[in-house]
Amino acid sequence: MSAFLHQRQQQQLLANPYPISPHSSSHQRSLSPFGRTGLLVLLSVMVVLGVLSPWMRIPEGLFSGSEVLISKWRDYTLAEAVSFVAKNGTVIVCAVSQPYLPFLNNWLISISRQKHQEKVLVIAEDYATLYKVNQKWPGHAVLIPPAPDAQTAHKFGSQGFFNFTSRRPRHLLQILELGYNVMYNDVDMIWLADPFPYLEGYHDVYFTDDMAAVKPLNHSHELPAPGKKGRTYICSCMIFMHSTGGAKQVMRKWIEELQSQPWSKTRKSNDQPAFNWALNRTAGQVDLYLLPQVAFPSGGLYFKNQTWVQGTKGLHVIIHNNYITGFEKKIKRFRDFGLWLVDDYSLESPLGRL
Ligand SMILES: *[C@@H]1O[C@H](CO)[C@@H](O)[C@H](O)[C@H]1NC(C)=O
Ligand SMILES: *[C@@H]1O[C@H](CO)[C@@H](O)[C@H](O)[C@H]1NC(C)=O
Ligand SMILES: *[C@@H]1O[C@H](CO)[C@@H](O)[C@H](O)[C@H]1NC(C)=O
Ligand SMILES: *[C@@H]1O[C@H](CO)[C@@H](O)[C@H](O)[C@H]1NC(C)=O
Ligand SMILES: *[C@@H]1O[C@H](CO)[C@@H](O)[C@H](O)[C@H]1NC(C)=O
Repeated sequence: MSAFLHQRQQQQLLANPYPISPHSSSHQRSLSPFGRTGLLVLLSVMVVLGVLSPWMRIPEGLFSGSEVLISKWRDYTLAEAVSFVAKNGTVIVCAVSQPYLPFLNNWLISISRQKHQEKVLVIAEDYATLYKVNQKWPGHAVLIPPAPDAQTAHKFGSQGFFNFTSRRPRHLLQILELGYNVMYNDVDMIWLADPFPYLEGYHDVYFTDDMAAVKPLNHSHELPAPGKKGRTYICSCMIFMHSTGGAKQVMRKWIEELQSQPWSKTRKSNDQPAFNWALNRTAGQVDLYLLPQVAFPSGGLYFKNQTWVQGTKGLHVIIHNNYITGFEKKIKRFRDFGLWLVDDYSLESPLGRL
């Protein structure tokens, strides 16, 4: 990993309120955490136990079977994946690399409790994640090539690097272009209630404010006024879009903004500012909708203001574990607030225990 990447990761930990750093995985080219032999053993156990689904057609020998399985998922396209998981024209997506699998499971348990798990598509940012998720939950993970591992070698400022950082809006744009509505979530989120009833009307793009200051319950659903840096602080962690021209326009603008505002040591940007600039530039032409803060509070509010949490009990819908840096600290904070479900409820996840 280049020193530059390391630097970006560090600045992301410091400045980036969402955690999904698809940059690093030491397992990127391995087929599974067990290696090939382990995978074969696992597969044979699964066959003996009869738990392999028809999705994983195993023809003659086990060996060729696993080859078929691997190449099947390697070739699984976004169009196939989305048409398999979408319900009522809508998919819920996240983008996950291997270190975030425990967060993925926590998030999935909470979604399963709201009975929306069937429309979840995991965008795997490495092959290990692709195979792991599809092995446990066939058809629910896809890898959109090129895999970022090849890209991480690129240095900052290169086109390859920009291509890499613009992966998220590209994925979302592709899904919109396939004709589906899409909800994107970072996986350090947890659902306490069903968010879909909050997606009122037929606006192009729905999003949440990343600020921590308490707003009145009846705050406006307009894009907020720009803050100190001349832009808004909308979170790129939770976005819902209808498959409309307006939503596609925002995604294209986001991609453009990422390309036109290169990362620099002084600016320390990540892709959230670019999303905010994209909203700023398209605000006049696109129908934007700010979701209610009480239902979708930032981590800076939910985890730091007990008075507010008590006073608004029962009104929270999705909680974001941001405004904190580090994997272990996030897990500890979820545990402290009774929101780390994987210890006791992993069987409620479609992935089971990982
Ligand atoms: C399907 O989508 C439409 C439009 O988005 C919505 O009004 C309807 O409630 C949805 N139906 C179900 C069963 O989710
Ligand atoms: C970056 O993306 C563009 C457009 O998708 C592509 O033409 C180009 O080859 C990519 N460059 C690198 C270095 O990945
Ligand atoms: C919210 O309620 C207050 C007091 O009832 C009122 O003065 C204000 O105009 C309302 N704001 C909006 C945006 O509706
Ligand atoms: C867009 O940003 C500019 C510069 O900060 C600001 O003056 C303008 O009000 C913003 N527009 C919207 C719609 O937020
Ligand atoms: C915490 O929430 C209470 C109740 O909404 C509010 O009055 C107070 O200003 C908040 N404190 C901070 C530090 O934002």
